[in-house]
Amino acid sequence: MNPACRATYSVSETLVDCSKCGHLLDIAYDWNRVPLPGSLKQFESRWSSRRNPLDFSGVWRFRELLPFARDEQIVTIGEGQTILQSSAGVGKYAGFQTGKLLLQYEGLNPSGSFKDNGMTAASTHAHMVGAKVAACASTGNTSASLAIYSSTTRLFETIVFIGSGKIAYGKLSQALDYGAKTLQIQGDFDDALKQVRDVCAARGIYLCNSVNPFRLEGQKSIMFRVLEALNWEVPDWIVVPGGNLGNSSAFGKAFFELKELGLIHRIPRLAVINATGSNTLYQLFEQHKIRWNGGKLDEAKINGFFGQMDTDNRRASTLATAIEINRPVNLLKCLRALEVCDGVVREVSDEAILEAKAQIGAGGFGCEPASAAGVAGAKLLREQGVISPSDQVVCILTGHQLKDPTSTVAYHSVDPARLSAIATTEDDAYATMLSKAGVTQTPAANRPIVVENKFESIMALLDRIGC
Ligand code: F0G
Repeated sequence: MNPACRATYSVSETLVDCSKCGHLLDIAYDWNRVPLPGSLKQFESRWSSRRNPLDFSGVWRFRELLPFARDEQIVTIGEGQTILQSSAGVGKYAGFQTGKLLLQYEGLNPSGSFKDNGMTAASTHAHMVGAKVAACASTGNTSASLAIYSSTTRLFETIVFIGSGKIAYGKLSQALDYGAKTLQIQGDFDDALKQVRDVCAARGIYLCNSVNPFRLEGQKSIMFRVLEALNWEVPDWIVVPGGNLGNSSAFGKAFFELKELGLIHRIPRLAVINATGSNTLYQLFEQHKIRWNGGKLDEAKINGFFGQMDTDNRRASTLATAIEINRPVNLLKCLRALEVCDGVVREVSDEAILEAKAQIGAGGFGCEPASAAGVAGAKLLREQGVISPSDQVVCILTGHQLKDPTSTVAYHSVDPARLSAIATTEDDAYATMLSKAGVTQTPAANRPIVVENKFESIMALLDRIGC
């Protein structure tokens, strides 16, 4: 169904946008026909039948809450075995009372990012409609996720479109290794997404970006697992990085559906965090005051904003490459989520992102830069007094630490003295990368220590550092 004009289409369609008003489609259910449990707690009983792949999956365990497929149609590779953890160090760093800041580690998914929650749902729909080829554009994680579903299930071939030089090596290596046909477009993610949409429409290829409404159905389960981990208590805040705005849109939908079904009694607040170098949502929501407004948006103002972006040839630029996106396709759905969840939007610098990332790493598990934007945003909102130190806050760590080892090694190993000026020699590549992104200091760095290849020198060093 289209959330703005309310036109409806059948589940067997592969459309992503409405032929009447042009906006993205949304999945709507006739809940009267769904055998819903009386309380969310009943989903927990599925932990005892984990040999059933649908009960094992952290997405399909909640299948009555995304009931678009029959059980035998579902495609799963065991996604969603992710955990909610408290990290005392990270909580203190961000200014929260002990135990109040929690981290949802979505990097523990099979392909290492939250995308698997959505890709299992998109793959299921692709299977339902008999798709033989699937495609996506990606800043890296969507392509890794689609590629793993394709290689594991052999249900369809995969083509991934990526921008040139715009993808972290961990992610590129996954797409290549899983055997996806990988097209490098001479442009950025926004260009690649435009191309893949046109190509899929022209060739009848199944499109797996988050414009696909089935993907967002799967991503709702991240919130179901957060609630489950909190014994079905609703937290005060969910904080999530914003790129193409699929996650934030899915989270809003999860909460308004649960509330409508009487399965929760209040909705948490939502904070979406942009990187300063790709801050379209921040500008539109916080500066231009664009609101969902019950579906009656100021589209002229939004179109004017993007028109000016084109005129100025403004391109997204951040070290958090996963969210290096200037034209978020789920903008409208995200505005709806912000309305439902009384949300806020903030932007954080690359320097703040990398510092938060190092703190998260030191607190265990770790994450990639885009994920750390959430924690940097929670810290900022704490400093601004928007979130209080006693609020229960859940930050979504969207991608695994090993996705982007380059930024991690750069942060920890660069000589801080080199950051003030853009370095020129080859061995200063890390300093160049960080200083171009506006990073002037690395206070949370854990620098490798150079030591002579000599037993006595190593022992003397250990004495010096107290080990
Ligand atoms: N975090 C990570 C690690 C991501 O890979 C992405 C998006 C986001 C956050 C932003 O999520 O789009 O739902 O707002 N990555 C996409 C990709 C765009 O192609 O992998 P969003």
